[in-house]
Amino acid sequence: MNELIIRQPDDLHIHLRDGDLMSLAVEHVSAQFQRAIVMPNLSLPVVSTTMAAKYRARILSSIPAGRTFSPLMTLYLTDRTTPAEIRAAKGSGFVYGVKYYPAGATTNSDSGVTDLSARYNVLAEMSKCGLPLLVHGEVTDKSVDIFDREKVFIDSVLSKIVTEFPELKVILEHITTSDAVDFVDSCSENVAATITAHHLLLNRNDLFKGGIKPHHYCLPILKRETHRLALVRAATSGSPKYFLGTDSAPHEKGTKEAACGCAGVYTSHAAMEFYAMAFESVGALDRLEGFTSHYGAKFYGLPLNEGYVKLIKNPQKIVDQYSYPGGVVVPFKAGETLDWCCTT
Ligand code: DOR
Ligand code: ZN
Repeated sequence: MNELIIRQPDDLHIHLRDGDLMSLAVEHVSAQFQRAIVMPNLSLPVVSTTMAAKYRARILSSIPAGRTFSPLMTLYLTDRTTPAEIRAAKGSGFVYGVKYYPAGATTNSDSGVTDLSARYNVLAEMSKCGLPLLVHGEVTDKSVDIFDREKVFIDSVLSKIVTEFPELKVILEHITTSDAVDFVDSCSENVAATITAHHLLLNRNDLFKGGIKPHHYCLPILKRETHRLALVRAATSGSPKYFLGTDSAPHEKGTKEAACGCAGVYTSHAAMEFYAMAFESVGALDRLEGFTSHYGAKFYGLPLNEGYVKLIKNPQKIVDQYSYPGGVVVPFKAGETLDWCCTT
């Protein structure tokens, strides 16, 4: 297949940042996607509907002229979030989910929840008003092996939430293991998962191929090949429980190429091309559109987008880096040539 026309996709998990890095992220995401679920883990986390309104306005003002991109906002769940804040978020019409970061799990997660059971009144309110819980599914106990943290989280935390709140819509974000796929498959239709392009294309060997590769370091960390294959099977299965969420997370080059480099892979510059590569690798391009453009929208109760994008076989070289006023970002597969090219 050399050409594919599919309904315009949504990115249901992205980091757009703030300030001068935001313009680059918004320019790239709005070139391919109609809508995106925007993560709230700014250095000052987005913990209230008022903050989300202001952040949304800043994003809207950085959309390039002529594009019609809609940021779908999220709130950051903290130990202080109240049911009243959940009602305000739902009532706003622009907040689409609440993000749960276990405190200390990843970038800017220090304000995350220390004891989720103390927030059950908040989850009850979310369940009642139909606001989904978006979950970073890793335990933070440093004595648990980093490659096991997703599975331990599912067994010790997530299974309880799902049992306690059967009506709550839950999205297990950026899943990385066959255990996560088995869990999501075993749950009701209220439980779904996003899958990133980099977790479909890389395994943990790619962190160390020919030397340490800081631009492949993300959280949850890449897992072994058997898990990658399980993710590819889930994404290409045609199950509406799995949909596109890039987790594209730009960081300035120097903060990744450092003695203590931060987590995040930047894929927004060619997200659809990367997903097309993954689906093509198992002969499943006919299943791409459901994953990129139908299932996520349906789970969030959104109408399908009206426009279309075209993927064509037209080799393109990824640049080595993107400049922005504060520095440079090294994109996923920098300097490599991709088979696919996505145009609107
Ligand atoms: O690798 C990651 N980077 N994982 C996350 O959960 C957060 C993200 C970021 O914000 O940089
Ligand atoms: Zn993320």
